[in-house]
Amino acid sequence: MNETRVRRVLSQAGDPAWVVTDYELVRTLLTEPRLVSTHPEPERAPRVSESVILGGPLPESPTEVADHARMRRLLGRPFSAPGLERIRPRVQQLANEVLDGLAAAPQPANFHELVSYPLPALTICELFGVPRADRDDFRRWSEEAGDMLDGARSLRGLADLTEYLRGLITQRLDNPTDDVLSETAAAHRAEPEAFTLDTAAELCAGLLFAGHETTVAAIDTGLVMITSNPAQRDRLLRSPELIPSAVEEILRVGVPESTLATASTDERVPGLPRWAKVTLDIDGVTIPEGDLVLLGLQQANKDPNLLGDRQGFDVERRPNAHLTFGHGRHYCIGASLARLELRVLFEALLERFPAIRAAVPVDQLPLRHGTVSGGLGSLPVRW
Ligand code: HEM
Repeated sequence: MNETRVRRVLSQAGDPAWVVTDYELVRTLLTEPRLVSTHPEPERAPRVSESVILGGPLPESPTEVADHARMRRLLGRPFSAPGLERIRPRVQQLANEVLDGLAAAPQPANFHELVSYPLPALTICELFGVPRADRDDFRRWSEEAGDMLDGARSLRGLADLTEYLRGLITQRLDNPTDDVLSETAAAHRAEPEAFTLDTAAELCAGLLFAGHETTVAAIDTGLVMITSNPAQRDRLLRSPELIPSAVEEILRVGVPESTLATASTDERVPGLPRWAKVTLDIDGVTIPEGDLVLLGLQQANKDPNLLGDRQGFDVERRPNAHLTFGHGRHYCIGASLARLELRVLFEALLERFPAIRAAVPVDQLPLRHGTVSGGLGSLPVRW
């Protein structure tokens, strides 16, 4: 019998879904125009989770294409690799600042709280021009927004975050500075009808969420992967110029419990969600209009066909065409930012803490369940 690469499963919300984990097929489907993030009747559509972020489809909108193009135009420059070079020295300073905090802490110290969480948070504050003093508030709102089990809490968190950013964008309308919030305010001023204040605030809330939640988990993963593979760590200590390829490998391996992962045994699987705009055929399987298709990015990144004869964690893997940031027109806008943070941090970390390691066996590290971005709840380390 001809085996198909499309399987019937349940989403994490328990709704019927299809899942694809084969690398080539996932990559192709990421550019399939008949698989979309919207649905004509979102309230009736199969869901991924209760979260307002990636939990279900967006309503169809006639301005969808124009809105997306505006978003990419607005953010393209500040989030591009050359645009970010400007803030590299500041990210280096922030990395050293958080590592000073680690050095001063008694051992074992919680790497997650002292390093992985604050570095992306401080960096995104810097880029957006969001006051550091309000950090506790938007940490709470971001965490609430990513709650996959309690829809009301998730909605409230995102609403609070959006309201807060609305206030800051309003301030920037009259007093612009050199930050992303000011650029967003200027874009609103240029097209007040098409790009309303609410839309601007929602966009920034999504970015602040992404800036807070995603990279944190990747930093924790990086620490665990590098320090639990001593030969690879020694390789990096001897040749720090391998850090960029090590970062790609960390990104490839991915984050446990993340929406982007795909569990292997449980019937309820995660994955990047898409909904069928029309009935279509995928690999010989008929996918009816409106059905949910989960793209298992992390599983695809582990496809033996992609890895060739180097199957394990390999800091020298080149090329490394992982799908962690997606592919095609929705390719992650924050990819260069995440890469910059990871590279700067691991350069400074390995120089200052060459013997750092998890203080408990890796399989006993607590996972964060029920959140969009997953990752670890804490990461005790010694050095
Ligand atoms: C390791 C960290 C990150 C990972 C793994 C990640 C992953 C992803 C993925 C898989 C997509 C594609 C979604 C889709 O096709 O539906 C995406 C899109 C996006 N990401 Fe990220 N992301 C990360 C960091 C960030 C950061 C730091 C930001 C911004 C501060 C960000 C902002 C965005 C935005 C705005 C999009 C939507 C792009 C579009 O629809 O055109 N991401 N991200």
